[in-house]
Amino acid sequence: MTRTPPPKQRPEADDDLAPLKLAESSEGSTQPVDAGTAGESKPGSGGSQAPEMGSGEGSTGGFETMLGKLVVRTGLATAEEVELCHALRQESAQNERPQTLADLLVTKQFVTPRQLARVKSEFEAKKSTEHIPGYEIMKKLGAGAMATVFLGRQLSLDRLVAIKVLPPKLSASPNFIERFYKEGRAAAQLNHPNIVNAYDVGRAGDHHYFVMEYVDGQTVHDLIRKVKRIKEDEAIRIVRQVANALRHAHRRGFIHRDIKPKNIMLATGGSVKLADLGLARAMSDTEAAEAEAGRAYGTPYYISPEQIRGEVTIGPAADIYGLGATFYHMVTGRVPFEGKNPSAVMHKHLKAELTPPDHINPKLSAGSAQVIEMMMAKDPRDRYHSEADLLHDLKLIAQGAPPHFAHRSLELTDAAPAASGATVMPAGGNLRRAKRGPLDSTAFMIVLIGGLIVSLLVNAVVLVMLLS
Ligand SMILES: Nc1ncnc2c1ncn2[C@@H]1O[C@H](COP(=O)(O)OP(=O)(O)O)[C@@H](O)[C@H]1O
Ligand SMILES: [Mg+2]
Repeated sequence: MTRTPPPKQRPEADDDLAPLKLAESSEGSTQPVDAGTAGESKPGSGGSQAPEMGSGEGSTGGFETMLGKLVVRTGLATAEEVELCHALRQESAQNERPQTLADLLVTKQFVTPRQLARVKSEFEAKKSTEHIPGYEIMKKLGAGAMATVFLGRQLSLDRLVAIKVLPPKLSASPNFIERFYKEGRAAAQLNHPNIVNAYDVGRAGDHHYFVMEYVDGQTVHDLIRKVKRIKEDEAIRIVRQVANALRHAHRRGFIHRDIKPKNIMLATGGSVKLADLGLARAMSDTEAAEAEAGRAYGTPYYISPEQIRGEVTIGPAADIYGLGATFYHMVTGRVPFEGKNPSAVMHKHLKAELTPPDHINPKLSAGSAQVIEMMMAKDPRDRYHSEADLLHDLKLIAQGAPPHFAHRSLELTDAAPAASGATVMPAGGNLRRAKRGPLDSTAFMIVLIGGLIVSLLVNAVVLVMLLS
């Protein structure tokens, strides 16, 4: 998230194009990239990233000692495989360049560099947070592209909290750290039932951490994986609550910038909470991205076209696009644009026409489809102009009524995608939608059959004239 204005001095292209370097796992979660993953101990892989996984130096010393146990415990390698690597390591100790256990596990292909990087980052985060004053770490809750989240207890207030721990490499840039604290403090000012509350930011050893409200439940991403498609009325309920959260944040100058199913939490009691407000801007910082070269920074499935283009001013409409893409995924079971790599996906966000969600899920109401399409208009000016308008339409479609705002903008967008601000509605504007509505398709068939009959009659007349 960032605060609107002041505008930034430099374009944000690098931030938002960072995902070009990424790979997505098959189920769509962001994962560090295998090839060239930071943390490889490849000779000559660049001094700036040292000490690294497998180097067996500095902070990795404890990790190297624990590594064998960790990979066996997590089921990545067998005890026999680890033993073999230990033996090889001892043999190589006499060499000029002794090999580490991490090197050998990868060379022998017992674990992938990606798995190794993940094990290492979790190990380090856990180790460091064992010493966060005032908190007791209980267990790991999850891990994202750049951080690990733990369940903890805040001792002074005796309450459960979630603690997000950043890897030390992210702390290398003073700009990043400054922004992280600034945004963390600012986010702590937000107070809304649909926003995961920010409590605290701090540093423990090499790690910076962010303490927030613990949400007992699951993410929308988890739910989609379980049920594939979320029922329309439940999806609308979730989107309405997130739109309320965004209205609160946007009014206070915050843009989230990373609205996605993994950042929407569903508490067991039924409430919906938007997570990571105050983090996305700091976390997408260029220096942070560079420091973590080769790892993942974000999922391009929900990113707005203007963020991809690296526009200097990213406004509330970017969050509406992300929420629209999330809505699309919830009700169709598919992300709006798929591609073999992040840049292919981003290219489609910029150029490809969206497959209407009700073409994928024919049970979806036309109202929801129209709202989603308006939320995902390529030009931010064609999206909802405020959360108030969006909430109005969401209320209508929740009642089974047609949306109020979605129609007109959809027609304009369809008709003249490049000419924003158009005030005339060309006839073509209704064409694509016309294929969909049962009433309109009947009219289309009548015209077609009528045309055929006229053509037959003309032919018959010509034939008669020729013969006579
Ligand atoms: N406040 C929270 N309460 C409970 N679990 C959380 C909280 N924040 C994050 N998590 C869990 O930790 C995981 C990792 O979070 P994060 O680092 O933000 O990555 P991402 O958003 O990409 O999943 C989430 O997917 C979620 O399962
Ligand atoms: Mg998150």
